[in-house]
Amino acid sequence: MKEWYQKIQSAGCMQELEELRIAILGKKGVLAEQFAKMKDIENKQKAEFAKRLNIAKSEFNKLFNEQKTILQARELESLLKSQQIDVSLYSATSNSGALHPVMQTMEKIVEYFTSMNFSIEMGSMIEDDFHNFEALNLPKYHPARDMQDTFYFKDEMLLRTHTSPVQVRTMLHAKPPIRMISPGAVFRRDYDITHTPMFHQVEGLLVDKEGTVSFANLKFILEDFLKYMFGEVDVRFRPSFFPFTEPSTEVDISCVFCKGEGCRVCSHTGWLEVLGCGIVDENVFKAVGYKDVSGYAFGLGVERFAMLIHHIGDLRSLFEGDIRLLGQFV
Ligand code: DAH
Repeated sequence: MKEWYQKIQSAGCMQELEELRIAILGKKGVLAEQFAKMKDIENKQKAEFAKRLNIAKSEFNKLFNEQKTILQARELESLLKSQQIDVSLYSATSNSGALHPVMQTMEKIVEYFTSMNFSIEMGSMIEDDFHNFEALNLPKYHPARDMQDTFYFKDEMLLRTHTSPVQVRTMLHAKPPIRMISPGAVFRRDYDITHTPMFHQVEGLLVDKEGTVSFANLKFILEDFLKYMFGEVDVRFRPSFFPFTEPSTEVDISCVFCKGEGCRVCSHTGWLEVLGCGIVDENVFKAVGYKDVSGYAFGLGVERFAMLIHHIGDLRSLFEGDIRLLGQFV
């Protein structure tokens, strides 16, 4: 037995250790061989023999575990050593940085709308209840508030859940006509394969004299925009609900992965939802003191666009800072 103990303690790698484990504790191993001898042993000595074997077995298990811990630590150490970076060292092959794929996508979106004469408006990431909800036709206790899981501060302050409050702020300080987009970070209490607590949206708003803005205008610009972003895709408008627009629709494009045939990404529907939009609800105009106007609005998630454009499966991977992923977007 001693000789086996020594072998375990001198095993130099996990594979060697595993081979020894099989040789000793395996079905056809040394111990199994000994246990098989039990049947030939006299009854009187059987108990003593079995006891000794069981002690040996637990000793072996203990030794294996100890050696495993030592080897794992050694392997980790050598892995860390091999990946060590001397940050003080000058690198002759330094790579140039690049915009994050989400920002690249954001820039492309912004580029389209600025070319269509939309101005860019920025808001604050910390908002109050009035601008984020109330003025957008989302009164307190309205069930639609549950559509957005909010991070709250004290005194009715919160992290904005969408970029729609920038519509409200813009209308409060400017007179129509308005043609604006608002790109920026938004926050929701969500975390899974398609949600992160922080993500980016672009909101759009167009307001002009009553009777001059129609759903047809909205449909035209969004179709044109989506073709600019995704190439030749089919676009469809599906009735939906948003408190700030009436009527409201969600907009789908034909699946960029299967070209509308049906696949896992589009849940075999052939369509991917990419934005929400509609004709601005009268109550929103009332909240900002606008009269005799009409308008359309839309909102989209930038990460979703980036994922679809670059075929990225897990949204969270965009925020892990892994150079192996980001290096592909230089
Ligand atoms: N604010 C909505 C959201 O975050 C997106 C949105 C939908 C904005 C429809 C709009 C709109 O302006 O008309 O889910």
